[in-house]
Amino acid sequence: MSLTANATAAFGEAYGADPAGLWAAPGRVNLIGEHTDYNDGFVLPFALPQRTVAAAGPSPDGRWHVCSTLAPEPVSFGTEDVGEPGAVTGWGAYVAGVVWALLDAGFEVPPVRIALDSDVPLGSGLSSSAALESAVLTALVDLGGLDLPLEKRPALAQRAENVYVGAPTGIMDQSASIRCQDGKALFLDCRSYEVEQIPFDLAAAGLAILVINSNAPHQHVDGEYGARRKSCEAAAAALGVRALRDVPVSGLPDALARLDDDVMRRRTRHIVTENQRVLDTVSLLGEGRVREIGPLLTASHASMRDDFEITVAQVDVAVEAALATGAYGARMTGGGFGGCVLALIDAGRAEETAAAVAAAYEKHGFTAPTSWVAVAGPGAGRV
Ligand code: GLA
Repeated sequence: MSLTANATAAFGEAYGADPAGLWAAPGRVNLIGEHTDYNDGFVLPFALPQRTVAAAGPSPDGRWHVCSTLAPEPVSFGTEDVGEPGAVTGWGAYVAGVVWALLDAGFEVPPVRIALDSDVPLGSGLSSSAALESAVLTALVDLGGLDLPLEKRPALAQRAENVYVGAPTGIMDQSASIRCQDGKALFLDCRSYEVEQIPFDLAAAGLAILVINSNAPHQHVDGEYGARRKSCEAAAAALGVRALRDVPVSGLPDALARLDDDVMRRRTRHIVTENQRVLDTVSLLGEGRVREIGPLLTASHASMRDDFEITVAQVDVAVEAALATGAYGARMTGGGFGGCVLALIDAGRAEETAAAVAAAYEKHGFTAPTSWVAVAGPGAGRV
C-alpha cells in the first residue's frame, strides 16, 4: 500500500472517521555545505522522494491527537500540556513542538487529529525529524488557514526542534523539506534565508546521485554536534565576526594565524572552505558543468574527515570504494557520525558502484550498506 493509503487507513482505524486531507513533507540529501547552516553560511540540499505523510482532520475534543504507523503508542496533548518545552517527550515532541512554536508565535492553532506514515529512513541523516515537523506544520497551517508564508515556516519548525525537542540544529533540514522544488536543488543563504532554485536534472547530463546509507550506528551525535557548534561560535567570537560566514576564503590564512587553538583552526578551515565549495558548486551547475562538481564533493568529504572530524570508518570506506569504481566525486551528507554518503556517478553505473561499496564493507566486516539512486523531488504540500 502507498503512504497515503496507509495514513488514511491509520486515521480511520484510530479515529473512526475520514481525514479532511493529506499533507506530505520529504526528507533531504544535502549535495554540499555541511555544518555551514548554523554558521550563517550556504547549503545546497535537494528533497528526496521519501517523505512523511500526515492524514489530518479537526479534533472534536479540542486536543491534539497523533498516531503513527511507525510507533506503537499514540500521543495526545492539550494546550495545558504543551505550554512548556519538554512537556511532551519522545517522537510526540516533534509534533507538540510545532504546535507550541505556532502558539508561541501568536497563531490560533486548530486542534487536529493526525495519522502519520513515512518511508524516510530513521536516524540515517536524511532528516526524518524535519520531514515529520514539516508535514505536521503544513497540515496545521492549511487546516487553520494560518497566515504563515512559506519562507517563514522553516524557522518555526527549527524552533520546535531547538527549543522544544532540545536539539541545537541549524535551519537547513526544515528549509529543504519545506522550500525544495521538484527537479531543483535549493541554494539557501542561511543568514538572509534567501533561496535560489538551481535546476538539477542529472539524468539529462547522463549522471546520477547514488545515496549509500552507511548503516553505521549513530554514536555521540548530539554531544558532538553541539561541540562543533560551540567551537565554531568560539572561533567567530575570537575573530571578532558575527559568524564564520563572515570570513572569506581570501581571509582564511590571516584568520588561522589569529587563532591559537589547533582544533578551532581546523573547524574554521572546514567552514570557510566549505562555504566556498557551495558557491563554486552553484556556479558550475549554472554553467551546466555538472560532472566538474565531483572534485568539490570529494574535497568536502576530506574536509569533514580531517578538519571537522565528523566522519566514521564506514562512510570513509564508502567514499573510497565509490571513487575507486569511477565516481566523479563522493562525500558524506548530513550531520555526521554515520548516516549516508552520496556519490556522483555515470547514470548506468549505480549497481556496479553499490556492489563495489558492499564488497568493501564485507571486507571490513561492516554491516551491509543500502544504496539507491536519488532524484530531486518536491517540497512539503498538500497531496
Ligand atoms: C544536521 C542539522 C542541520 C545541519 C547538518 C549538517 O542535519 O539538522 O541543521 O547542521 O546536520 O550540515
